[in-house]
Amino acid sequence: MPSESIYIGLISGTSLDGVDAVAVDFSADQVNLLASHLEPYSMHLQRSLRSICLPGENEIDRLGELDTQVANTFADACHAVLDKAGLQYKQIIAIGSHGQTIRHRPKAKHPFTLQIGDPNTLAELTGVTTVADFRRRDMAAGGQGAPLVPALHQALFQHPVHKRIVLNLGGIANITCLPSEKDGLVLGYDTGPANTLLDRWIEQHLAIDLDHKGEWARSGKVQDALLQELLADTYFNQPPPKSTGSEYFNLEWLGKKLAQINYANEDVQATLLELTAVSVAHAIAREGYSQSEILVCGGGVHNAYLLERLSTRLPESTIRPTSEYGVNPDWVEAITFAWLAKRTLAGLNGNLSSVTGAAHDEVLGGIYPSSL
Ligand SMILES: Nc1ncnc2c1ncn2[C@@H]1O[C@H](COP(=O)(O)OP(=O)(O)O)[C@@H](O)[C@H]1O
Ligand SMILES: [Mg+2]
Repeated sequence: MPSESIYIGLISGTSLDGVDAVAVDFSADQVNLLASHLEPYSMHLQRSLRSICLPGENEIDRLGELDTQVANTFADACHAVLDKAGLQYKQIIAIGSHGQTIRHRPKAKHPFTLQIGDPNTLAELTGVTTVADFRRRDMAAGGQGAPLVPALHQALFQHPVHKRIVLNLGGIANITCLPSEKDGLVLGYDTGPANTLLDRWIEQHLAIDLDHKGEWARSGKVQDALLQELLADTYFNQPPPKSTGSEYFNLEWLGKKLAQINYANEDVQATLLELTAVSVAHAIAREGYSQSEILVCGGGVHNAYLLERLSTRLPESTIRPTSEYGVNPDWVEAITFAWLAKRTLAGLNGNLSSVTGAAHDEVLGGIYPSSL
């Protein structure tokens, strides 16, 4: 097996469901997924992370310790994926680690974004060159620091004749608009919440972590007044570039919109799911892509009811998981960070300034060298 082209990619998204790890072989410009692994966070760590995602007390100490703890979990994810692939660390060129976002404030007076999972610890525990901290260089260049997946979406999925959308349904939803290769710039942005509010609402009311296939939402009735109230949030009509996170779209945000009205809990879930379908459909229409193929990835691909509602809202498009285009939808984001590590080491840009709004394309991230 050629070892000059194998990378590990790591990310934990806003859902805080655990660390996605992949081992990928990029030889001959192919993306060959050798192994994948989801390393769950311990309950305790997940709770601590959830808490630090919102402003609170004693943040610097908590942050410092979590930075190391998250890196340990990321290293566990590396060990597991390597085992599954039957590889050794000396065969890995580099690890690309997104880390765990705990704050993303692109609109602050002094914009910043913060991912933890100390890359020094990761390089030390694995002995492999680690590339991390991908978002901040883009932000330093005036960009949103997000989304970063569109460059890989373009490399994997752009079609020479047809326009395509790649829709990532993570905690937050983001779209990548891929023009046919001949014309136009790639665009992309976060459209708003996807799974994060569905997860939090079902957890609060049924004490389970996800709405399997969207069945609970399906049992409810969309409340139009509430849907309009949610859609009235300024984020949805803001022009791109834009990005967001669970520090904005969370139960507190929802609580303010619910005001004093008592909706049935399953009706709120149905309305939240509809909010994702409508906000994604509006964004796609706004960019002139409502008659395109839509390639879906991220955990929301398993929410059958959400996909049904998206189809209803986008009747002229065809909606299919990226697996039908050769890439497992659960691992596209982790593959992105393996690919971005390769780009960084090759001195190539990782961001698309047309997406993030940065002044220019940039080589992203910091390099933490191998100790092997
Ligand atoms: N079987 C399923 N039914 C409904 N939703 C699911 C299912 N499997 C995963 N999900 C959703 O996908 C989310 C994880 O998606 P992911 O792409 O990992 O998001 P993130 O990148 O934010 O971590 C879960 O939190 C859950 O809401
Ligand atoms: Mg995830």
